[in-house]
Formats: sequence, C-alpha cells, structure tokens
Amino acid sequence: MTEKTFVMLKPGVLQRRIAGELLNRFERKGLKIVALKLLRMNRETAEVHYAEHRGRDFYEKLVEYTISGPVIAMVMEGEGAIAVVRGLTGPTNLLDAPAGTIRGDYAAQTRLNIVHASDSPGGAEREIALFFRPEEFFPWEDGNRGWF
Ligand code: CMP
Repeated sequence: MTEKTFVMLKPGVLQRRIAGELLNRFERKGLKIVALKLLRMNRETAEVHYAEHRGRDFYEKLVEYTISGPVIAMVMEGEGAIAVVRGLTGPTNLLDAPAGTIRGDYAAQTRLNIVHASDSPGGAEREIALFFRPEEFFPWEDGNRGWF
C-alpha cells in the first residue's frame, strides 16, 4: 500500500554537511520526495512534535538539540514507506542500530541520532500535518519508463 511518511534530518546533519549523503540513501531506495523544506523549529513546535516524551530524562536536551539549528523536513511516499524508511534509519536505540542503517553508520548517541522518522500511520499523519500545509506538497508521476 502506498503510504506517506514524515522524515526529519536533525540539526547535526547540516552541521556535518551530510544532508546529501542521507538524501541519497532515501532516493536510492526509490522513495519519492513529495514535500521538502529547510526550517528552524521553535520551542513550541518541538514540544508538540516530541509531546510523547515529555517527562523523560532526555526530554529537555532533546528539545534543545532539535531547536539548536535548521532541520530538513520531508514527506516521502512509497509502498510501505513508513516501515521502509524506519528500516533505512535503523532503530532509535543506538546500540540496536546495525551498520548499514543511517543511525548505525552516522550516530554516536541515541539522543543525537540525526534523523527522525514516523513510527506509525497515525504518527505520520500527525507529524505531516504539524510541518506541512497542503499547498506545500508536490506530487509527481514517474516517467513512461517508470522507476528502475
Ligand atoms: P526520534 O526518532 O527523533 O524520536 C524521539 C527521540 O528521542 C529519538 O529520536 C531520540 O533522539 C530521543 N530518544 C529516545 N530515546 C532516548 C533515550 N533513551 N535516550 C536519549 N534520547 C532518546
């Protein structure tokens, strides 16, 4: 089933100049970017985005990190996109993230795990709506030859 999912490249990605490398991984897989922007989150948006983690010991530092610089927010589309993207990012806990996944290859701390991706259809819907207005979507079709 074709799905949309929300992906955010966190501030460390621009700091480390690896946005292109990470985008490449999603594109190489065949995911379709249908919305994308650079933005700097304010505290309120970050707190809504991470509301489920409020009260956890890492929460305040997570919010501080998230608003410390610009992020790249994206919506990607594809068959089973939510699970496919989670497969590419790897699990949240750094110790579980195998080499070959984005977190396994690029992140040295669970809190600074450089990428966020929706974990469920409900989460994707909520996160997409938090970051994008309908007119910021640009759906497109593959050419006659399709994607190969
Ligand atoms: P993310 O996918 O953005 O969703 C929630 C974020 O909270 C997660 O990535 C991490 O950045 C952070 N996080 C989750 N669990 C922990 C933890 N145990 N310790 C530190 N940070 C965490």
